[in-house]
Amino acid sequence: MRTQVGIIGAGPAGLLLAHLLHLAGIDSVVIEVKSRGYIEGRIRAGLLEQGSVDTLTEAGLGARLHREGLGHDGLELRFDNASHRIDLHGLTGKRVTIYGQQEAVKDMVAARLETARPLHFEVEDAAIHDIEMDRPRLTWTKDGTRHELHCDVIAGCDGFHGISRAAIPAEVLRVYERVYPFAWLGILAEAKPISHELIYARHAEGFALATMRSNSVSRLYLQCAPEEDLGQWPDTRIWEALHARLGGVNEGPIIQRGVTGMRSFVAEPMRHGRLFLAGDAAHIVPPTGAKGMNLAIADVRVLARALTAFFRGEGPGLMDRYSETCLKRIWKVQRFSWWMTAMLHRFSDSDPFEHRVQVAELDYLVHSQAARTALAEQYVGLPYDQ
Ligand code: FAD
Ligand code: DHB
Repeated sequence: MRTQVGIIGAGPAGLLLAHLLHLAGIDSVVIEVKSRGYIEGRIRAGLLEQGSVDTLTEAGLGARLHREGLGHDGLELRFDNASHRIDLHGLTGKRVTIYGQQEAVKDMVAARLETARPLHFEVEDAAIHDIEMDRPRLTWTKDGTRHELHCDVIAGCDGFHGISRAAIPAEVLRVYERVYPFAWLGILAEAKPISHELIYARHAEGFALATMRSNSVSRLYLQCAPEEDLGQWPDTRIWEALHARLGGVNEGPIIQRGVTGMRSFVAEPMRHGRLFLAGDAAHIVPPTGAKGMNLAIADVRVLARALTAFFRGEGPGLMDRYSETCLKRIWKVQRFSWWMTAMLHRFSDSDPFEHRVQVAELDYLVHSQAARTALAEQYVGLPYDQ
């Protein structure tokens, strides 16, 4: 078998790349270790920057997003028992949209299937070969049969735990990492959101976030211990903590719950030979500020443009600059996610200095138009050309 681009992973990065390449007339094969049902049901991110919405819309993937997505013009910061609104739209002219990652994934899977180009689920033993040559290969097993795919380029879109990053020789790869001493306990509940916008709360007991998936489904997060045992969190304890930290929430049946670890991580360079990394395969941000999926989309825009130029015979210039171009945005977003995390979480059990500095920073933020503008323009998403 042969293709132009072999894509490992059917998350937002791999599926969007496959679609953008299809629109440019470029052939690809996508392989995914999980089932279609699994990736379409996986609850993760929920907030799209304006640029991500524009990217999906331009790619013809925006119909349901525009019907069902919830546009937000502002957000609320809560600390010291008071709420302060940040007028995102007034400060930047842009807005963000709530649309569950799994809904975006469903739209992209449907678009892929409509093109009739290959998307293989439940592959096993995927392996990458010959990335330093002009014809790299992918191999995998499906239903007991071994497959071999000859490619011009391989895109590693297989997330943080995939195989792609490890295919880059260790002496070439540089890793930057910070692991935080806490995690998020996230729930999905059949309960009306308390506000039509998001609430980020800094509280003496720890961070909390109230977001949503619709006007009747709340998504709520609580700072917890890094290896938190969900068994220690019966529903009553979850609701008590949410009430205390958010100043009251609407309760309802909890339909999903999970714990997400928090880290900042960047692997450089994002390209070696004919292998290109995109999305979580190359970088992770802590979730505060909701940048993970948006960064994956930003990488893929750059990669699709570079590969299109290459296959049109315009040379490898954009491919050669891929890593450098993406990393400029990635480090700014890393800084923003780290800053939001540092400002809103409780790091130690007994550090009154930390508490006072965090509150001073939040107080400055809500009273300074310059500081609010800085937050707002990063939250809605920096322009792609910076
Ligand atoms: P992924 O979505 O991870 O997709 C990678 C795909 O590759 C997966 O489908 C995986 O099954 C597949 N794969 C892995 N290995 C192989 C292999 N060997 N062969 C074939 N396929 C393979 N971000 C936010 O902004 N806000 C949030 O609230 C938030 N919550 C999150 C909660 C969790 C539990 C996790 C893990 C992430 C969360 N994120 C959140 C981050 C966000 O979801 C990711 O940044 C986003 O999914 C990145 O997309 P991706 O396509 O790069 O990677
Ligand atoms: C969501 C997650 C985030 O991490 C965030 O900062 C905002 C929204 C969400 O899941 O909706």
